[in-house]
Amino acid sequence: MYRTHTCGELRLENVGTTVTLAGWVQRIRKMGGMTFVDLRDRYGITQLVADANSAQAVADAVASLGREFVIQATGRVAERQSKNAKMDTGDIEILLDQVNVLNPSDIPPFTIEDVSDGGEELRARYRYLDLRRKPLKNALTLRHRMAHEVRNYLDAQGFMEIETPFLIKSTPEGARDFVVPSRMNPGEFYALPQSPQTFKQLLMVAGYDRYFQIVRCFRDEDLRADRQPEFTQIDCEMSFVEQEDVLNLFEGMMRHLFKTVVNADIANPIPRMSWYDAMDRYGSDKPDIRFGMEIHEVTPLVQGHGFSVFDSVEYVGAIAVPGAAAYTRKQTDELAEWVKRPQVGAKGLVYIKMNEDGSVKSSVDKFYTEDQLRAVAAEAGAAKGDLVLLLCGAKRKTQTMLGVLRIEMGNRLGLRDPKVFAPLWVVDFPLLEWDDETQRFYAMHHPFTAPKPEHMEWFNSNRKEDLEKVCANAYDFVLNGTELGGGSIRIHQADIQKRMFEVLGISSEEADYKFGFIINAFKFGAPPHGGLAFGFDRICALFGGQETIRDYIAFPKNNMGRDVMLDAPSAIDDTQMEELFLKSVAPEKK
Ligand code: AMO
Repeated sequence: MYRTHTCGELRLENVGTTVTLAGWVQRIRKMGGMTFVDLRDRYGITQLVADANSAQAVADAVASLGREFVIQATGRVAERQSKNAKMDTGDIEILLDQVNVLNPSDIPPFTIEDVSDGGEELRARYRYLDLRRKPLKNALTLRHRMAHEVRNYLDAQGFMEIETPFLIKSTPEGARDFVVPSRMNPGEFYALPQSPQTFKQLLMVAGYDRYFQIVRCFRDEDLRADRQPEFTQIDCEMSFVEQEDVLNLFEGMMRHLFKTVVNADIANPIPRMSWYDAMDRYGSDKPDIRFGMEIHEVTPLVQGHGFSVFDSVEYVGAIAVPGAAAYTRKQTDELAEWVKRPQVGAKGLVYIKMNEDGSVKSSVDKFYTEDQLRAVAAEAGAAKGDLVLLLCGAKRKTQTMLGVLRIEMGNRLGLRDPKVFAPLWVVDFPLLEWDDETQRFYAMHHPFTAPKPEHMEWFNSNRKEDLEKVCANAYDFVLNGTELGGGSIRIHQADIQKRMFEVLGISSEEADYKFGFIINAFKFGAPPHGGLAFGFDRICALFGGQETIRDYIAFPKNNMGRDVMLDAPSAIDDTQMEELFLKSVAPEKK
């Protein structure tokens, strides 16, 4: 037996017993004739001691130790002279009788401490060492707990976990596919699933009316803090349900996860907001409702006063930033520059300061009377001491820019506390999104999302204005400004699915080629169904109070989609290329 206990286990009641521990040497400290060794494993750290009374063999072994050596240590549990309240095992230490070095270690390239001295790139290259650090261990432990609780909850609700294949044909989630060449089918490729969307719908046709899967998905898209090329979904589908059934069931799941994983009670019921409201009030389809600072339209109040910038636009909107009237000229100038960054894209910024002393100061004083400015500020909900910020342009675009500005101001004012959880359902999404560039509609969720039954007339119309009005029974679960999940009630009739492809400009030949299998399946008794998928990595990160999902994935990719530890992707050898009927073409030099 390598060990009798773990390094996180021993307490005062164990004093006097002889124990054997195994683990990694975290730290060695010499003080007078005593040597202290902190021994670490997954469960914690225990202090080992060698002193003048220790056998020579022990003293020699301890003298040979270095950081990250793997050792086995036997000794007697003793009460510590100076206790360490910060450590679970801080009341005791082990007086060493025997030390075996199970494996020495090279000097690690960075310190394995809660806060390491290693940079991101270096730690990524030695991910297995980084994973020894407590913050990552806590992150993966949270992830494990979460997966366990998801399964507990869904199993109790009668869901079956069913695996679906990875080597498939392209799925329509809107990103690029990762593809895999087929050796046995020369010149042909599998696609890796962007989600199991079509399979879960086929499982509904097959009669498995409550399906779920904690499943890897693959999307070749630009990466961000909350996006990885391979990520995990809690993917679910149900038959014989309406939107209300799906929302209730998964509200229950989220409540269960909050309670069991982080012991948090969330709003009951979780508030719901239409997509239109979310855009109008927060400039985002994933509003962070932890703070106010809502967007207000002020177009009628600011037009017709000779300020041509406002007079010439569709929309002018404002937010009132609490307590920011005290901003200096330098600060407002900096903000005016900030909104011109490509991530925001505004042409300029107008402000109104509602000073604490009751006076009003604005960057457009020339065009408006004080009363007119006060009226705008009142519309924006500003109080004394607030700074009103205005942007203008096309309606949705300007609202989106105001939404980005609102989040920035929320960050600057410290209004986005990661310990506060403010969940929200965004519902009633438009079914379709018009793209000016390609002059066609795209599905806002995906092409299997059903139009609302009461909007079928618009759906069957060929007028752009009608089609733009069609809403879907589609919903997103949003937490603290992040989209954690999304889904919809699906189309289950072959003719409506056909019409959907037509609206999306997908010819019937193309639809047959890409989705013939599902159109066909719908001819054999497809039940009404709907479902959703949550971003598992994102839920873990937010529960852990982080925005980046990388720490919640054991072996993640960097921003370029590379695994720097494996050095992947990498070239394959010529024989493999030939077997797969592939030829590599060097990218053109820029
Ligand atoms: P959707 O595309 O909205 O829906 O994805 C569901 C959830 O998955 C998470 N997510 C990601 N997480 C990390 N990295 C990524 N690259 C990434 N992309 C998405 C998000 C998102 O809310 N088949 C539909 C679901 C359905 O309709 O049932 C789908 O995949 O948290």
